[in-house]
Amino acid sequence: MAGITYSLVAPHTPRMGVEDKAPDFVRALINSQKEMGEVVRATKPDVLIINSAHWVCTFNWHVTCQAEHIGHCVADEAPELIDGVPYRWRGDAEMGRAILSEFEADSIPGAPNESKHFQWDYGSWVPAKYLDPDAKLAVVLVGTVPSSDIDECLKAGTAIRRAAEGLGRRAIFAASCAFSHELVRGPTEWPTRDRQQLDHEFIQMLTSGRIAEAKSWFKEYNDAVVGEMGGRNLATFLGCLDETSARPYTGKQYGPYTQSSGSGNANIALWQT
Ligand SMILES: [Fe+2]
Repeated sequence: MAGITYSLVAPHTPRMGVEDKAPDFVRALINSQKEMGEVVRATKPDVLIINSAHWVCTFNWHVTCQAEHIGHCVADEAPELIDGVPYRWRGDAEMGRAILSEFEADSIPGAPNESKHFQWDYGSWVPAKYLDPDAKLAVVLVGTVPSSDIDECLKAGTAIRRAAEGLGRRAIFAASCAFSHELVRGPTEWPTRDRQQLDHEFIQMLTSGRIAEAKSWFKEYNDAVVGEMGGRNLATFLGCLDETSARPYTGKQYGPYTQSSGSGNANIALWQT
């Protein structure tokens, strides 16, 4: 069946980027992201749509429409960790334009990114490389828009879902972000115990398919845990999920919940039964 076949939250801490140099505390995140990727690729998706917290588009929802993505990824805030690693994936301009059409239908301001000089941020590249290590999938990137509010992000996620359904694509949507995200110096620092608990409750709510409950709790949860980019990626992820569907959701957390500089990270996947 076409549409969003899997909705993922996939973290991207820069220390995950180069596997050989990754510290022990992120190795389980890497391995579980690979495992999640194997599972979703086995269902033969057409396209991987990544909404990265680090591709920041101040006003408008930019969507990649290049036929191919070729470049070098530098983590601009941590070039000592990701210093220009080459990448190459197919794009899916038709999917990108379908998303933009649905944004327009909902009065969400968007624009195509067709620049052949565009270089991926590490929040796009890290999950792409672990979810699809042989670069077999087409990839479409959607930016994160500081001028949007949570309601607009929810609407944008729904528009992305409609676009995949309308075009007949089997799409994976991945929000590339953390859960708790009040950052502190010190790579191995954890979120506060209260925030860890809230993250576990939110993840449990999602993976048990309680989508309507997760949507109604989200703003309160997000305020308490200081979601990455104001929780915009998690909200877009939620918008991709259709709580009114007759087909219930279920889900799974792959690997452990782990820390990075005060943030809380986990790989999760949701799908409809
Ligand atoms: Fe981040």
